[in-house]
Amino acid sequence: MKLLKQGAEAKIFLDGNSIIKERISKSYRIKDIDKKLRLYRTRSEAKILDKCSSIINVPSLFNVDEIGMKIKMEFINGKLLRDLLNDLNEEEKKEIFFYIGNEIAVLHDNNIIHQDLTTSNMVLFNKKVYFIDFGLSFISDRVEDKAVDLHLLKQALNAKHYLYAEECFDNVLEGYRKSKNYSKIIERLDKVERRGKYK
Ligand SMILES: Nc1ncnc2c1ncn2[C@@H]1O[C@H](COP(=O)(O)OP(=O)(O)O)[C@@H](O)[C@H]1O
Ligand SMILES: [Mg+2]
Repeated sequence: MKLLKQGAEAKIFLDGNSIIKERISKSYRIKDIDKKLRLYRTRSEAKILDKCSSIINVPSLFNVDEIGMKIKMEFINGKLLRDLLNDLNEEEKKEIFFYIGNEIAVLHDNNIIHQDLTTSNMVLFNKKVYFIDFGLSFISDRVEDKAVDLHLLKQALNAKHYLYAEECFDNVLEGYRKSKNYSKIIERLDKVERRGKYK
């Protein structure tokens, strides 16, 4: 097994065609709480990943190990959108972000809030975008949670891809038009953003 990434919360191993995401313990947390938190997040991520697999492109879930705090899933052998964005032409960018907006609409219509929509959590493979990292995701039908989900993506684009952030996010919103509650959520997004400015 090869260690691919070491994040703040988890280690990512590559094992053949599988990814193993192992939640590591944090010494600064009380032991009992640490264990509960890792178990909760492991279970929750696996559950939501599984729920997503019938509605959008995500890695298939292979196995959940609640003792080892590990999730085994399909390895999407593509490129992170983060690393690819600079090489895309206008037309490709437009198409990809429109598609991302479509996918977020599907997630939200199913009351799934990703909560960490960044270009590091999107893998491009076979001309399709795969969403990964459901570690912070939760189920909610609240307009507020959906608006904040979009807002976090906008912020992430601004932080990492300043030059294209605006056009990319405009295309996300175009794709998001197909959401059941489009107008309400966009209205709320506007409020969320104005609120942010005066924080
Ligand atoms: N199923 C997967 N297929 C391909 N790469 C993955 C997969 N899961 C994780 N990765 C890689 O590992 C990185 C970290 O995984 P992620 O689930 O986002 O954990 P973290 O919570 O540390 O951000 C991703 O940005 C991606 O590069
Ligand atoms: Mg991630």
